Amino acid sequence: MKRVLSGIQPSGKLHLGNYFGMMSRMIRYQEKNDLFCFIVNYHAMTTIQDGDLLKENTLNATMDFLSLGMDPEKSTFWIQSDVHQVAELTWILSVVTSVGLMERGTSYKDKLAKGVTPNMGLFSYPILMAADILLFGGEIVPVGKDQKQHLEMTRDIAIRFNNTFGDILVIPEPDIEKDTQLVPGVDGQKMSKSYNNTIPIFGKETVIKKKVMSIVTDSSGVNEAKNTNCALFNIYSLFLDENEKHELTDKFETPGTGYGEIKKDLYSNIMDFFQPFREKREYYEQHKDDVFDIMKHGAEKATEVADTFLIPVRNATGLNYRV
Ligand code: ADP
Ligand code: TRP
Repeated sequence: MKRVLSGIQPSGKLHLGNYFGMMSRMIRYQEKNDLFCFIVNYHAMTTIQDGDLLKENTLNATMDFLSLGMDPEKSTFWIQSDVHQVAELTWILSVVTSVGLMERGTSYKDKLAKGVTPNMGLFSYPILMAADILLFGGEIVPVGKDQKQHLEMTRDIAIRFNNTFGDILVIPEPDIEKDTQLVPGVDGQKMSKSYNNTIPIFGKETVIKKKVMSIVTDSSGVNEAKNTNCALFNIYSLFLDENEKHELTDKFETPGTGYGEIKKDLYSNIMDFFQPFREKREYYEQHKDDVFDIMKHGAEKATEVADTFLIPVRNATGLNYRV
């Protein structure tokens, strides 16, 4: 059984891109793998410096994941800051990481180009991510394409550590899925919390409807054939099997159906798809103590595994001066 590990930032309301690109895959993986999944609130601090907001987002992301099918008995599911060892490993890894490696980070460079004044946390974000993975011996890391370079950095850092101190850390492999690697937003660009173009998974019905009705389309009228190469078709397809996808293609290519009608159908598909999860989500919302208990149990399981890696690291580096 492979150890599959990934994390998600609680940096805003989770959306269809997060669900199809990451969360649903993680939930599926727990059937046949040893799954480790966590909410990376230390990472989110690089951009959110408002205590109440970070708390709210962390709890929301946790409840979202649990409602969507994360099973805390089958898997190890926790909140990053509950396992403090990750901060220690970050420090240890930072001494075997060159400044140049961090400076080459494209996601860091993009933020600089956008005029963000970087803090040290943003600069060393990839080292914390490496610690996340290496502290638990993650073998396979499912992520979106945008995280590929961070995985390469993790591998570089782990190899450098092992060459210096001995073979302790497991070298992970990224797992990037082609089909869902880019879910478009309502404006046709990549769906992202930072572009204000998302369809939230657990938004109010009126909000979701408004978002779906605002998906950009071209000017083809009811009595014209329509091009399937568009955001509406791509988003709709996420909810369909192969046969249904053919039917949708026919609907697009045969004159007679307007975009408005297709969008209404998509809206009801989205609501039907997430309905059972919405009920569970409502339950957790009313029973936060259950959520806290589940997270405490997850943190305990994760801490035990973290020690199996951190103790040999402390021994090999000389931090444990008693042995
Ligand atoms: P966002 O861009 O909304 O801030 P994150 O960067 O926090 O999303 O991504 C969390 C996870 O969801 C990552 O694994 C990322 O690759 C995946 N993801 C985010 N947006 C999309 C998208 N539009 N399509 C596919 N996967 C996505
Ligand atoms: N950087 C990742 C993202 O923004 C989140 C993340 C943090 C992560 N630690 C991780 C993903 C460890 C995989 C493994 O999507």
